[in-house]
Amino acid sequence: MTKKSRSSISPVSRSGRFASSPSAEVAAFSESISFDWRLWRHDILGSKAHALMLAKIGILSPRECSSIIRALEAIGREIAAGRFLWKPEFEDVHMNLEVELTRRTPAGAKLHTGRSRNDQVALDVRLWLRDEISALTLDIHSLQRSFVSLASRNASVLIPGYTHLQRAQPVFFAHHLLAYVEMLERDCQRLSDCSSRVNVCPLGSGAIAGSTLPLDREEVARLLGFVDSRGRPRLTQNSMDAVSDRDYVVEFVSSVALVAVHLSRLSEDIILWATTEFSFITIVDSYTTGSSLMPQKKNPDIAELTRGKSCRVIGNLVSLLTLLKGLPMTYNRDLQEDKERLFDSADTVRSCVRIMSSMLDHVTVQSARCLEAASDPLLLATDLADYLVRKGMPFRHAHHAVGAVVAMAEKFCKPLDRITLPEFQSVSSLFSKDVLEVFNLNRAMLRRKSTGSPGTKEVLARLRHWDRALA
Ligand code: ARG
Repeated sequence: MTKKSRSSISPVSRSGRFASSPSAEVAAFSESISFDWRLWRHDILGSKAHALMLAKIGILSPRECSSIIRALEAIGREIAAGRFLWKPEFEDVHMNLEVELTRRTPAGAKLHTGRSRNDQVALDVRLWLRDEISALTLDIHSLQRSFVSLASRNASVLIPGYTHLQRAQPVFFAHHLLAYVEMLERDCQRLSDCSSRVNVCPLGSGAIAGSTLPLDREEVARLLGFVDSRGRPRLTQNSMDAVSDRDYVVEFVSSVALVAVHLSRLSEDIILWATTEFSFITIVDSYTTGSSLMPQKKNPDIAELTRGKSCRVIGNLVSLLTLLKGLPMTYNRDLQEDKERLFDSADTVRSCVRIMSSMLDHVTVQSARCLEAASDPLLLATDLADYLVRKGMPFRHAHHAVGAVVAMAEKFCKPLDRITLPEFQSVSSLFSKDVLEVFNLNRAMLRRKSTGSPGTKEVLARLRHWDRALA
């Protein structure tokens, strides 16, 4: 908020009906201007469209309409320049703008015709969310590009893949990174799906029951871009639903909660990889922090904070669902509580997406250390079972036989690829001289050919796909 004033003017919403202004305590308790001021751009946009429509149906004269539009634009310029004085006694962004508009032009007193703050706030949030979703989607695409670029720079690096955080099978580091690109792509799809339900115009619903005036809702929807792919206006179809519906807020907050969860999992990977024990990556100094006591420390705080911030984004989702679950129809002031949850989720996730993208751009992969870990022959135990399967053994028997070979290697304290042919053959006569070829890591990766597998060609093809798709 830019500035606050201390005067005690009676709110316009009380003029006439009330004998006194709200107590200072009530005003402070119920104001929302301290956080909903950021809807100003969209509130002005909505008001301009509403004014144009009122002029079209003859409620405003052309002269009144243009004086309103000129004044709204001037107010907008002042807010953008940080010169506008927000007044808490006018409760919220809608009242602040209307009061100031009316101070500048008497026609301002006609602007609220056929409109309520209940449909106005629904409109503003929908307009705000539409922009927010576009901006977040662009940021997620940048993050995806950072993944693809890190993966491309290290396209031949192999690491162990893990299940249960135990070494499982070798994978390309790029394959691991591209898993996140797939997750983020689904996140973008969810956001786009959410956007389609956001993009419906509620204005004209009034406080609860529409208006007796011949409002042209289609015109407002068209002016504000609430249209389908063929340019036809998209309007809410039930005034009671329209003023009390916050499903689109829940959907957005839920979609970004999942983004936060994905980034939290990524953070965990980054934190593990950056440990001395793993040493798969190093993070450039400027994206790490030190310890106030231990001089040697270099900590992955960005990843830790991203992991930590996911909890409040999840909390916001739970708060919103709880906020809605007991609300009788229709608008209740409880709904004002949606905005801080919404803004916090949007801001938090947006900042996490952006910083993760820059951090990935400042990660170096320790390829020698990765190769050392990926060269653990135990990672190819499943390949060894597949070898027996290719020789005709049923998989269940092959699994058992390789288990016995692994136990033997453990007992003899030697790596799996140092077992001699006679030792292999003591377990199964199907093992022959070519068994040691199984442990050729490069060949093992070339053998993985099915769609979605971490095979050499598969991963390169997927890298090319994302490179093109995100260009
Ligand atoms: N500031 C309110 C909100 O965010 C909108 C105003 C509706 N207030 C009312 N008393 N009808 O929900």
